[in-house]
Amino acid sequence: MSLHAANQLWKDRKTVADPAAPTGFVIGVDLLRISPLEGAVFLSQADITDPGTQRAIQNLLPAEKVDVILSDMAPNATGIKELDHQKLISLCLGLVNLSQSILKPKGTMLCKFWDGHESRVLQNKLKEQFQDVRTIKPQASRKDSSESYYLARLYKGK
Ligand SMILES: C[S@@+](CC[C@H](N)C(=O)[O-])C[C@H]1O[C@@H](n2cnc3c(N)ncnc32)[C@H](O)[C@@H]1O
Repeated sequence: MSLHAANQLWKDRKTVADPAAPTGFVIGVDLLRISPLEGAVFLSQADITDPGTQRAIQNLLPAEKVDVILSDMAPNATGIKELDHQKLISLCLGLVNLSQSILKPKGTMLCKFWDGHESRVLQNKLKEQFQDVRTIKPQASRKDSSESYYLARLYKGK
């Protein structure tokens, strides 16, 4: 499942569009309007924190649960660093809760965060639920940006 789907979706697009790639099922969710793409299901103009969106995701899943939750979600930045940091951590914590109902055992979650004093709270929460949690700063991410990603693997849930 891909959270952040409106603008680019390039990784998912590659997976969906390449006929030689293994078949999969991709759901994309974004607050913004998402253009249709063959092979993917989008919940366009949908808020992931809305229980109605979460129910819609569960109803759409063919095998009930997903292998990967991929989040590049971010709120509109206010410019107040601490506030923006807290809002994004709160979105990510919501995803960790959602994983309990939609992520397969041994599944993976990747989520973007803006670093700040609550990053540890998110990291600890992920460590409770995943066997392996790493912090990743992709090359494509600007060095002067506080953006990083937590890659959480081997979900402990049932
Ligand atoms: C950094 S952009 C994603 C950029 C995209 N990955 C790309 O490569 O172009 C963050 C996205 O998160 C979405 N977003 C923020 N809060 C959200 C929420 N509560 N539910 C769903 N999408 C949300 C925004 O609408 C925005 O499109």
